[in-house]
Amino acid sequence: MNSSVPASLVQKAAGAPKAELHIHIEGSLEPELIFRLAQRNGVKLAYDSIEALRAAYAFTNLQSFLDIYYAGASVLLTEQDFYDMTAAYVERALADNVVHTEIFFDPQTHTERGVPIATVVAGIDRALADAEKRGLSSKLILCFLRHLSEEDALATFDAALPLFEQYRHRLIGVGLDSSERGHPPSKFERVFAKARAKGLKLVAHAGEEGPPSYVYEALDLLKVDRVDHGVRSIEDPALVARLADTRIALTVCPLSNVKLCVFDDMTKHTLKDLLDRGVAVTVNSDDPAYFGGYVNDNYLATIEALKLDDAEVYTIVRNSFEASFVTPEERAALIATLDAYWHGGHGEHGGSVGASGS
Ligand code: HPA
Ligand code: ZN
Repeated sequence: MNSSVPASLVQKAAGAPKAELHIHIEGSLEPELIFRLAQRNGVKLAYDSIEALRAAYAFTNLQSFLDIYYAGASVLLTEQDFYDMTAAYVERALADNVVHTEIFFDPQTHTERGVPIATVVAGIDRALADAEKRGLSSKLILCFLRHLSEEDALATFDAALPLFEQYRHRLIGVGLDSSERGHPPSKFERVFAKARAKGLKLVAHAGEEGPPSYVYEALDLLKVDRVDHGVRSIEDPALVARLADTRIALTVCPLSNVKLCVFDDMTKHTLKDLLDRGVAVTVNSDDPAYFGGYVNDNYLATIEALKLDDAEVYTIVRNSFEASFVTPEERAALIATLDAYWHGGHGEHGGSVGASGS
């Protein structure tokens, strides 16, 4: 084995039961579904064809992606649209052996077009309830758009209050996403304090494009339970040590980071450095329809580029359960399922391959 890791490890990772903790449901909208919904709803797109839309997926940074991502989300109008989008993601997640997923959604992207938050949540929740019957459990996290004002986030939070009650089994937290630079976590201290007072889980994108100081703000001012991305934490050794000591997990999205030019290529990704320093990193897809793959594609790319070994991949998958917002009993059961698979004959799930490459 010189340049490649054993194919069997990639296959073992693919077959492993895993949790996904960083997926924007609007980022799972494949071009084909965007066009189908545009037609169904009479929405005019700026692109003539699926191919033309896909050709625009050549991003230079986060903002260049977000512009297209919000355009894609403009086709979502009805409860059924949100159901169909989520049901399509569910199929991809099940195919990748995801057994638990914690999904972000961006209500302000829809309310500004006149779609009520209740419509958004009803459609997503209905698809997730159906998925539950097929062995995929899930939570939902409402994200505030950080390029908008905190007043807008506060109004969104207040509008969502009845939904946090009605969907208490599903809608368990708030997050912070969209354009990071120039919109530090400190801008959203009050709305996160309100969410915390309600007992909600807290996460925030920080240290994707923004500096380590944004990660400190997410920890110290917003008091987040997890950091989304957080890869630029590596620039600050004291921050890395703190993340490792406190076991505050990072939901890393390797293909996203390369597509958005956070790293030049996958071999430059710092996931393994963070892992080596004891940080609880996880692997996730972020916006899989835009970044070239679902969660198993992210495992594959990371394992191969960073030459991860069996123990490292096990740790990453286990971290996905350790960092999830399930109950202690659910967590123990999920980890037991992983351990049975990982340490005891995974062949019946993952199948076998010919050459190991080693
Ligand atoms: N970063 C910030 N905002 C986002 C992202 C992301 O990767 N995906 C969807 N909204
Ligand atoms: Zn994200």
